[in-house]
Amino acid sequence: MNHITDTLVDWHASHGRHDLPWQNTRDAYRIWLSEIMLQQTQVTTVIPYYERFLQRFPNVTALAEAATDEVLHLWTGLGYYARARNLHKTAQIVTQQYNGKFPTDIDDVIALPGIGKSTAGAILAFSEHQPHAILDGNVKRVLARFYAVEGWYGNKAVEKQLWQLAQANTPSSNVHIYTQAIMDFGATLCSRSKPNCAACPLQTNCKAFAQSRVTELPHGKPK
Ligand code: ADE
Ligand code: SF4
Repeated sequence: MNHITDTLVDWHASHGRHDLPWQNTRDAYRIWLSEIMLQQTQVTTVIPYYERFLQRFPNVTALAEAATDEVLHLWTGLGYYARARNLHKTAQIVTQQYNGKFPTDIDDVIALPGIGKSTAGAILAFSEHQPHAILDGNVKRVLARFYAVEGWYGNKAVEKQLWQLAQANTPSSNVHIYTQAIMDFGATLCSRSKPNCAACPLQTNCKAFAQSRVTELPHGKPK
């Protein structure tokens, strides 16, 4: 296994988050719900919404059978309401077309409303331990810095390069631990505005650090 993968897994054991309410479960419904809420909302904001939502809708069928208004009401304050509408639609598809069992084939998961390639990878890594890469905002930042990837992610070639790096680093075993590790690492140690390079276990091999370009990378949209 390669350097960044092992190092992040070791880092996570001592410095990662282990007690978030969507951890320590392999229930795809719970994991899916957390990943959708976390797409555009911070962990601390999500937690109470997540718990209320699960109390009212403990499984995918309960969510599918709810009125859209009630789903939207429980989402009030989280923003990006398309997420709630897609969540409801996906619950209905899973209930009707998959007998209430979340699909486990990545292409079937990506085909569901509101779920892109990265979210699908995260859901299947956490629930099935399938070795899919993820590439959310935190992971993009870590990879762009560590490998000094040039250019804006909105550029197709840059996006492709980052997906290749994400894939190359994703281990075939313990993928759920690695995935949580790189998410937590990007959210805390290698954060956007205050990366703690002095305490970073990747520092000796980090290109952005070596080139003093940590705050420059990743590149935003060109002006
Ligand atoms: N952001 C997206 N997915 C997450 C997860 N599983 N844990 C913490 N933050 C996340
Ligand atoms: Fe991120 Fe700094 Fe570590 Fe590089 S050395 S991975 S920029 S925290």
